[in-house]
Amino acid sequence: MTQMKTVLSGIRATGTSHLGNYIGAIARFARMSQDPRYRCLFFVADFHTLTTLKEAEQIKKHLPNMVLDYLAAGVDLSHSAIYVQSDVPQVTELAWLLSCLTPVTHLEGLPTYKDKREKHPEDINAGLFNYPVLMAADILGPRADLVPVGSDQKPHIELTQSLARRFNNLYGHYFPVPGVLPDMVLVPGLSPMDERGGFAKMGKSDGNTINLGDTPEQTWDKIRVAPTDPQRVHRTDPGNPDHCCIFALHQYVSTPEQLAWSREGCMSAGIGCMDCKRVLADNINHMLAEFRERRMQLAQKPDVIRDVLVEGKRQAEVLFNETIEHVRERMGIRRWGS
Ligand code: TRP
Ligand code: SF4
Repeated sequence: MTQMKTVLSGIRATGTSHLGNYIGAIARFARMSQDPRYRCLFFVADFHTLTTLKEAEQIKKHLPNMVLDYLAAGVDLSHSAIYVQSDVPQVTELAWLLSCLTPVTHLEGLPTYKDKREKHPEDINAGLFNYPVLMAADILGPRADLVPVGSDQKPHIELTQSLARRFNNLYGHYFPVPGVLPDMVLVPGLSPMDERGGFAKMGKSDGNTINLGDTPEQTWDKIRVAPTDPQRVHRTDPGNPDHCCIFALHQYVSTPEQLAWSREGCMSAGIGCMDCKRVLADNINHMLAEFRERRMQLAQKPDVIRDVLVEGKRQAEVLFNETIEHVRERMGIRRWGS
């Protein structure tokens, strides 16, 4: 039997989860956790959240919600774990050790950092600069093999890979060089088409989301008023589904027959936008029904979250401690007082 691969991913605790997080990350993680080939480690990256979010109450409120989302989506904990990054403070120790192997020029060249520096030059804290080193520690601490992330995070994984190689070269082979799993899908939001002919991704800060906690009625209300192809002013005007976020969203939740119905009906003005939207809303609500139900039930049992996180911390610490002892020894940082 081949050994199980360790899959690891983190989510920052920045806000209410939406359909894009669900399809792109949470539901995908749940499926991977049910796959016997993988041992999955999922964590809430609260230390990373601090680089941009300064409202302590927000972090405290969001964090248990993210854990509930994982659980309600069906993450199978029989061979996987969920933990909170800061519950495993060894990660910061490893981040320091790795930072001494990290060229500043590599960090300066990372697109996430460059973007932030251009857009918010007044708010560049050292945490933001070191963010990818902490990420490397997240990944290398438990010696992860595979990291499912969105394309925006790829440069960070490349830094992690180069740190693993550098360590292995300098101190002898220890770390597996982690692979990136094929891109997480970026689900479009309820937005008009942009100048480039694409759609803004569904994002917390863009106000174009369908939230996982929304009721079916709230979901319909958002879809009902969402922008469509601007060429379809009247019911009798034919439209172009490729210019419409509603059609873009259909592709994630609807059947091939429904897609064909929507495309043809739109182009021939055979259907109205409300018909098209109704089917989309029904499909989304149908897809989320079980999740929403489970989430509501779990929310009434706060002990569940605590128990999951206590066990997650325990498992993560075993993995991290092994790495730290090894790395310290190889780097010459012995424990002298104990
Ligand atoms: N930076 C990631 C994001 O914003 C979250 C994250 C933190 C992460 N540490 C990680 C993802 C380690 C994968 C592996 O999406
Ligand atoms: Fe968009 Fe559907 Fe209306 Fe066409 S029919 S414009 S795809 S909502």
